[in-house]
Amino acid sequence: MTDHSNGIGPARDELVAALQWQIDVGADEAIGDQPVDRFVAAAQNTAAVATPSAAKPASAKPAATALAPQDAVAASARSMAESAADLVALRDSLAAFDGCSLKTTATNLVFGVGQSKADVMLIGEAPGRDEDRQGVPFVGVSGQLLDVMLGYVGLSRDENVYITNILPWRPPGNRQPTDAEIAACLPFLTRHIALVAPRILVFLGGTAAKTLLGRSEGITRLRGQWYEYASPALENVGIEPIPVMATLHPAYLLRQPAQKRAAWKDLLSVRQRLDTLTK
Ligand code: URA
Repeated sequence: MTDHSNGIGPARDELVAALQWQIDVGADEAIGDQPVDRFVAAAQNTAAVATPSAAKPASAKPAATALAPQDAVAASARSMAESAADLVALRDSLAAFDGCSLKTTATNLVFGVGQSKADVMLIGEAPGRDEDRQGVPFVGVSGQLLDVMLGYVGLSRDENVYITNILPWRPPGNRQPTDAEIAACLPFLTRHIALVAPRILVFLGGTAAKTLLGRSEGITRLRGQWYEYASPALENVGIEPIPVMATLHPAYLLRQPAQKRAAWKDLLSVRQRLDTLTK
């Protein structure tokens, strides 16, 4: 190694090695001679940004047409959903809707399956991995259990049932849907219900029951009882409120098989009610 030192300071090779060490530990940005308190600088920037609105006269109002971002999403969802004349058009509108970020992480839109004029419409929570892959609701293990249970009371997606979800896109990792995701997609679901116009609705699990009944109790409290579902989307097309049974989600039944008895009871009640409505 060449020694460039003049005998007073460190040799060049030692300086290069010291610089290389700094780069290796991540200190690769040139800084000034004096320390800077970046917290003070950030606070000053915030104050500078805040000043103009703080100085606004108290009477200043936002422009009447300005919508908060979530309201704008809801308004666009409503107008797209309302203008869909049938299920095919509604599916196309939903596919074109960019107001729910789940669309960007999902593989497929999971719209609905079954008979477009079904006696019974079931509404679950959101697609899981299998549904996301195939673009069809309830095709995984919980869907298989659901089909078996429906079959015992004479219901099937091939004959008299239609199935959809609160959300049409899979939340990553099957996490709970957020309130904002549900609110963004809800106008499409309310129109979906109005277009199918079933005799009976069945809400599968807490997310569907709480969202569509506007209740805060858990599904174990809400299940097993009859409710009525009404919405402006139904009123717009002259449909009377629809009877609803809330029941346990099949994924929950797979984890808690002892609860199947309660879900059977609910489905038998659905069968009886359907028989009285179709007599
Ligand atoms: N769980 C749901 O809520 N919906 C599906 O489509 C599948 C599983």
